[in-house]
Amino acid sequence: MNTTPLFTVRRADWQRDGVSLAAIRREVFVVEQHVPEAEEWDAMDAVCHHVIAQAGDGAAIGTGRLLTDGRIGRMAVLKGWRGRGVGNALLAELIAMARDDGHRESRLHAQTHALAFYRQHGYVAVGDEFIEAGIPHVEMRLRLTP
Ligand SMILES: CC(C)(COP(=O)(O)OP(=O)(O)OC[C@H]1O[C@@H](n2cnc3c(N)ncnc32)[C@H](O)[C@@H]1OP(=O)(O)O)[C@@H](O)C(=O)NCCC(=O)NCCS
Repeated sequence: MNTTPLFTVRRADWQRDGVSLAAIRREVFVVEQHVPEAEEWDAMDAVCHHVIAQAGDGAAIGTGRLLTDGRIGRMAVLKGWRGRGVGNALLAELIAMARDDGHRESRLHAQTHALAFYRQHGYVAVGDEFIEAGIPHVEMRLRLTP
């Protein structure tokens, strides 16, 4: 019986994994969603937490990040890997990291098409829709208190 997992998720390090993480984000946000390069990259990558999903062969297939203020962002799974639970696993790890850091609430700016994805993890939409990087977003929050 083959028990090799389809993919794995682990905490990542920008110094060590940054090239792989950036490649995913470039493919998903810049190429697929037409986010301008200038808006995709910021100084926060060097100081925040990151997660990486890897296929069985080690190829990087998904990522996300947790800022020092508890905000989650840059959730991206390569197109060919969507719908197989990679996003769920990445978000669960990011929420666990936010708890480990002592945050009492998790916040994020959700692209409106992904509202249902975040709702499944308990996030609630707050406020009106707004445009960020040319894409409609809504702020969502999740209480982390026990
Ligand atoms: C959003 C994204 C990260 C989800 O990753 P994924 O690996 O496809 O998600 P999963 O397979 O773990 O899906 C988890 C659940 O959310 C649902 N879901 C996933 N993407 C969804 C979407 N865009 N809209 C509605 N539901 C979605 C799935 O149906 C699944 O439901 P289930 O558990 O009942 O089967 C991925 O679609 C992506 O990278 N999109 C492009 C970049 C993007 O928009 N990022 C979000 C920025 S806020």
